[in-house]
Amino acid sequence: MTTSPAVPAAAAALEDASAYAAAVETATKAAAAYYASGESPLDDDAYDRLVRGIDAYEQAHPDETAPDSPTGKVAGGAVVGDVPHTVPMLSLDNVFSAEQLVSWAASVERRIGRPVEQWSVEPKLDGLAIAARYEDGRLVRLITRGDGSAGEDVSHAIGTIVGLPDRLAEPVTLEVRGEVLMTNEQFEHANTVRSEHGGPPFANPRNGAAGTLRAKDRAYTVEMTFFGYGALPLPASGATLAADMGEWPHSRLMTHVAHLGVHTAETTAVAPRTLATVTEVQSRIEEIGALRPELAFGIDGIVIKADHAADQAAAGSGSRAPRWAIAYKLPAVEKVTTLLDVEWNVGRTGAIAPRAVLRPVEIDGSTVTYATLHNPADITRRDLRIGDQVMVYKAGDIIPRIEAPVAHLRTGDEKPIVFPEVCPQCGSDIDTSEQRWRCVRGRNCRLVASVSYAAGRDQLDIEGLGATRVVQLVDAGLVSDFADLFTLTREQLLALERMGETSTDNLLAAIDGARNQPLSRVFCALGVRGTGRSMSRRIARHFATMDHIRAADAEALQQVEGIGVEKARTVVAELCELAPLIDRLTAAGVNMTEPGAIPPAETAAAAEDGDGGGAPLPAADAGPLDGMTVVVTGAMTGALEKLSRNQMNELIERAGGKSSSSVSKRTSLLVAGEGAGSKREKAEQLGTRTVTPDEFAGLLSGFLDQNA
Ligand code: IVH
Repeated sequence: MTTSPAVPAAAAALEDASAYAAAVETATKAAAAYYASGESPLDDDAYDRLVRGIDAYEQAHPDETAPDSPTGKVAGGAVVGDVPHTVPMLSLDNVFSAEQLVSWAASVERRIGRPVEQWSVEPKLDGLAIAARYEDGRLVRLITRGDGSAGEDVSHAIGTIVGLPDRLAEPVTLEVRGEVLMTNEQFEHANTVRSEHGGPPFANPRNGAAGTLRAKDRAYTVEMTFFGYGALPLPASGATLAADMGEWPHSRLMTHVAHLGVHTAETTAVAPRTLATVTEVQSRIEEIGALRPELAFGIDGIVIKADHAADQAAAGSGSRAPRWAIAYKLPAVEKVTTLLDVEWNVGRTGAIAPRAVLRPVEIDGSTVTYATLHNPADITRRDLRIGDQVMVYKAGDIIPRIEAPVAHLRTGDEKPIVFPEVCPQCGSDIDTSEQRWRCVRGRNCRLVASVSYAAGRDQLDIEGLGATRVVQLVDAGLVSDFADLFTLTREQLLALERMGETSTDNLLAAIDGARNQPLSRVFCALGVRGTGRSMSRRIARHFATMDHIRAADAEALQQVEGIGVEKARTVVAELCELAPLIDRLTAAGVNMTEPGAIPPAETAAAAEDGDGGGAPLPAADAGPLDGMTVVVTGAMTGALEKLSRNQMNELIERAGGKSSSSVSKRTSLLVAGEGAGSKREKAEQLGTRTVTPDEFAGLLSGFLDQNA
């Protein structure tokens, strides 16, 4: 597998002095906007192209270099802030290919006159640089990079940044440097909270971090995460670090920083590595590139540093960037494309959501054709029009989103976006009282879809109840929600077209069997907004019975892994709306308990009854996979052949394990069947234990017999 580098497009061609002056103005404005708010009218590629064009013009006309030219300046010359840095906060030069990397490494070795002792290879985190000053182990000041020699004081953000503790493990005085960003989850959460406060969503995690870092008086707080990538001693006021800290290799320094309690990339799948040769560096670059789509946070490249202090000192630094480090850029995750149309889709719950149809664009190895548009108010706020050139952001598991129209590319032919006046699904009125529009019929609007979903293989698994049959039942007035399925009579079914005695009896038997599905599947069948199959399983295992789930308030729901403040509120509201349906399901004899799970009150009581010493509880789910995270890939064979992926995940969780869909450092076991591809490769790279479906069945043998 090769990591396609971010091949830079040709530099902008600047033909004369006025084109040059215009380019300098555009680039400096873009840099100022980017460093002030994180929002730029140009995407990274366009900005790079422009600056390279400016650079080429200056090389050819050295006398004409404008004083405000962005070339050779940290942050493109965008000056912010007034707190001086003790040591300049430099930027990094870029390479875009393996060849460029090799020649850069050779140039470093030529300059220092010997081979570099070892290289440190680490992720280039896509956020904002920040300096965190600790005095005697206490966090006293946070400063942005600014122009590299002075930055802005953003100490008000202390306490909102995960990974930057108020106090270090030792009372040392030092400055930690690193990147503040929003993880994908923090980003999605921040946008939910902002929407609820009527604010516009952040366009991408980087903007989210930039805006949040500067915001002082918001009615709400959202979290960010810090990743340290450097440290330096400060004039000490008390106990200090080892006197020779300045001579430590970068890697040792960073291990120490992590030991002090600061978050670094060390705990991630793309942890820094020290490597002896450029060939090894190159293969680690490829590994990091391959891991990128599954990371929980954004990276825009890989940083390669000479690890030893003596090598760094010998290589030295320029005014903008050190000569001992380089950024190997990965392809941009933001691209400009055309907004072709807007579709209005009605979800199973009756929510009406606009979706952008885009001219297909390749972003980080996948083709993006659709992007979320959040809600109608957001379209208005951003003044989007059909035919606009729009910046699209797509990274990791984040749903592709439109950041903004590129207004200066408008031709005048763009057309307004037409909002629906009635529900596009059923023609009923639309409830527009909230930002998220909804059909007044709510779930009933998409009755066929919601009943088919409930009957589906991963929910109640009612064989013989496909969408066509559901349409028939709905049209005949026999079903107005899926609880009605359980009261269907033989006569009613026989009266339907194409329903003979055998299919009727089979369907009735299948419906009857569905009464015994575990709670996790019944809960999933409800289609509660914000919960899918794996979340439904977690909720069911945590609460054990539907009564316990219904009795839970938002706080209790947050005890379930993956449920935050907003999701908890949504689930509570949804369960309230679904109460009549749940009551009717219960009355129809549908099972409302999760086999093997213990309700939270009883687990708490068991803890109190125990030895009183707070010893860990005997886990309800102690099983052969206790504490393991298991990923399944490829086709299952042998005893497991008939199991769907969802059933495999259910089995893993019943056996005490955690199921996951992607291989990472945290994966304990990969079950790789025939046709396994990239997941097997990644497991090999990470040294993850891998077994065949047969070996896995063997591991579970006793358990399978009891739990078949
Ligand atoms: S080292 C003197 N390491 O990338 C060395 N920078 O484009 C300067 N960045 O200003 C920085 N991850 O904000 C370094 N692992 C990493 C990094 C990293 C992200 C940022 C940093 C820097 C910018 C340059």
